[in-house]
Amino acid sequence: MSNAERHYHIVTYGCQMNVHDSERIAGMLSELGYTQIDDIGLADIVVFNTCCIRENAENHAYGNIGMLKKLKAARRDMIIAVGGCMPQQIGKADVLHKKFPYVDIIFGTHNLGKLKDYIELKQGRKKAVIEIQEREGAVTEDDRPLRTSYPNAWINIMYGCNNFCSYCIVPYVRGRERSRRSENVIAEARSLVGEGYKELTLLGQNVNSFASGGGDVTFPELLRAIAAIDGKFRLRFMTSHPKDFSEELARAIAGEPKICNCIHLPVQSGSDRILKAMNRKYTSADYLRKIDILRKYVPDCAVTTDLIVGFPGETDEDFRDTLALVKKVGFSSAFTFVYSKREGTAAAKMPGQIPEEVSKARIMELVELVNSLTREHSAKYVGRTCEILCEGYDEKRGLYLGRDEYGRMGYFKGDDSLIGSFVNIRVNEANGVSLMGETVK
Ligand code: 5AD
Ligand code: SF4
Repeated sequence: MSNAERHYHIVTYGCQMNVHDSERIAGMLSELGYTQIDDIGLADIVVFNTCCIRENAENHAYGNIGMLKKLKAARRDMIIAVGGCMPQQIGKADVLHKKFPYVDIIFGTHNLGKLKDYIELKQGRKKAVIEIQEREGAVTEDDRPLRTSYPNAWINIMYGCNNFCSYCIVPYVRGRERSRRSENVIAEARSLVGEGYKELTLLGQNVNSFASGGGDVTFPELLRAIAAIDGKFRLRFMTSHPKDFSEELARAIAGEPKICNCIHLPVQSGSDRILKAMNRKYTSADYLRKIDILRKYVPDCAVTTDLIVGFPGETDEDFRDTLALVKKVGFSSAFTFVYSKREGTAAAKMPGQIPEEVSKARIMELVELVNSLTREHSAKYVGRTCEILCEGYDEKRGLYLGRDEYGRMGYFKGDDSLIGSFVNIRVNEANGVSLMGETVK
């Protein structure tokens, strides 16, 4: 390793938005001349891109930052930066600074784009650089992310959230909804397709409110415009709030083969009482109606969801309502969470916080149900041929892997030349969420 070489290592917590934010951070670091390194111990700069959506994400970050204390003592020139959602919470930057005085840079979600300046500033001084921009600025249109997931690429189309679900901290740390200009999103998509990316995922907390977030077209219009770009590629999007799901969106999915027949539509609960307390602005019947509309246009559409158990005041009956709704919809998979109390949110002040053992029992029952639905879906694949976009090689299994249009992971024998191409596999075994198959012409 030559002296001139400098390396970065990024630790990412949380959602896909954060994964893409880390690509933006990587883009900035590479402009400064750093290259990525897997071994954190050899990095010249380590960035923790944090998440605060649940307490365990925060605890995870605390643990990992704490573990760097010794390393930093041995390598004083190493720069440690902590950014993202955790420091963006009111008062949290000070807590982090006190707990980890050896951290060099602390920055929030709204000033992520200035990390380059902070690194330069820090190199000339001893004191930590701590900057949290309280309010969101204009959307960034000129990012140069260093994409790390070929043949998949993520495109941020909007930032922030206006929904204030009563349990959720996102609107407090990501600010209000603001959309990018459609022409810039379309140009970015076109250039990614030109570079050979085969799957584009449009990202936002709530992509269906692209227009109400200041976008110049509706979300289905944006999807159609991107789908019209020449070339073979897939188009996905996440996340959609059920209250903004429209018939126009269902028609766009049905009418454009490039838009994958799958949607992530978080329902959170099946109890109307809890949905109201969560401030979700729909009932379980409203949700089911939307699913009916979707399936009228796209009968084979895979629907995935997010579910929370143990929200304050959740009775056993409320929980049964959730189980019933999950069965009725027949989700092809779901992310399940135990409610986590977040200071500053409306739900944190609600009476009836649920004891841990009750939440644990509920989540186990829910996970069991979700897994059985997933297995049912996977079993239907056996004997079928499906088109997989090969993403890479799985060392553990010694097989190549990729997803089909519905988001199911397929594994098969092959070689590196398949990475980034569409491969037909005949499924001969279904294993939970994984499909095992062999390539066919
Ligand atoms: N506790 C548990 N889960 C939460 N989510 C958001 N906030 C909380 C919380 N306080 C979940 C929701 C959301 C997903 C991204 O995270 O299900 O859809
Ligand atoms: Fe959080 Fe609700 Fe916004 Fe999703 S829609 S980010 S759950 S406030």
